[in-house]
Amino acid sequence: MFANSRQVFSSQTDLHEQLAILVERHRTTLFKKPVNEVNLLAYRQAIAMWDAAKRPALIIDSCCGVGISTLNLAQKFPKSFVIGIDQSADRLSRQIKWPAKRPENFFLVRADVVDFWRLLLDAGIHPSQHYLLYPNPWPKKTHVGRRWHGHAVFPTLVALGGIIECRSNWKIYIDEFAAALQQLTGKSIASEPYLIASVSTKSTALPTPITPFEEKYHTSGHALWRCRALL
Ligand SMILES: C[S@@+](CC[C@H](N)C(=O)[O-])C[C@H]1O[C@@H](n2cnc3c(N)ncnc32)[C@H](O)[C@@H]1O
Repeated sequence: MFANSRQVFSSQTDLHEQLAILVERHRTTLFKKPVNEVNLLAYRQAIAMWDAAKRPALIIDSCCGVGISTLNLAQKFPKSFVIGIDQSADRLSRQIKWPAKRPENFFLVRADVVDFWRLLLDAGIHPSQHYLLYPNPWPKKTHVGRRWHGHAVFPTLVALGGIIECRSNWKIYIDEFAAALQQLTGKSIASEPYLIASVSTKSTALPTPITPFEEKYHTSGHALWRCRALL
C-alpha cells in the first residue's frame, strides 16, 4: 500500500493550556443535551444484537469508521461481543477488504457516540474494553473542546470504565487524553509509542494495523501513539 498522509499540523506544541480547566468544568457540570431519538433506536438495536448470555463481555469500538477494527477485534476476542459505532452511514456501508466468512460476535451501528455512551451508562452497561482508534484530532487550538477529552461527554466515557485504549498519530492528542484521564481518575496514566509491523511482515512480535487509518499512517511513516488504561 502506498500512502503519503500528511502529519498533523498544529500551533500547539504541548498540552492545551485550558485543558485542565475544561475537564474540571465538565466533571462538575451535568451534561444535559437530550438524546436524539435516532440514536436511541440505534442503541436499542445494537444491544438487542448482543448475545449477552453467551458472551457477557462487551467491547465497544467507538468511531469505528468502516468497521474493520470491529471485525479484527471480534476475531481477536471470540468470547466477547463487539459493537462498532460510527456516525457515518457512508463509511459503515463500504465493507472494503471484508472477508467472505465473518465472525458472528460483532455488530456495526450508525449512531453518535455522545448519545450512545450516555445510554450505555444510564443502563448500567460497562464494557470490558473500549477502543477509540484514530479519532479526528481537531488540531486547531480553538477546537480543543471537540477532542474527546475536551468534550462535555468525557466524564461519561470515563465512567463507563473497563480497559480504554485510544490511538493517534498526533502525540499531543494522546498526551492530553492521558492527562485528562489522570485528572478524572486520580490514577497515574501515561501515553506511549505504539509500535506496529506492516501487514506484509509475516514473522514479528509486533501487532499489525487493525484499522485503515492505522495502516495509512504507518505506511506514511508516521509515529503512532496510544494511551491504554484500566479505569
Ligand atoms: C479519522 S476516522 C477513524 C476511523 C477508524 N477508527 C480508523 O481508524 O480507521 C474518525 C471517525 O470518527 C467518526 N466520528 C466522529 N465523531 C463521531 C461521533 N460523535 N459519533 C460517532 N462517530 C464519530 C467519523 O465518522 C470517522 O469515521
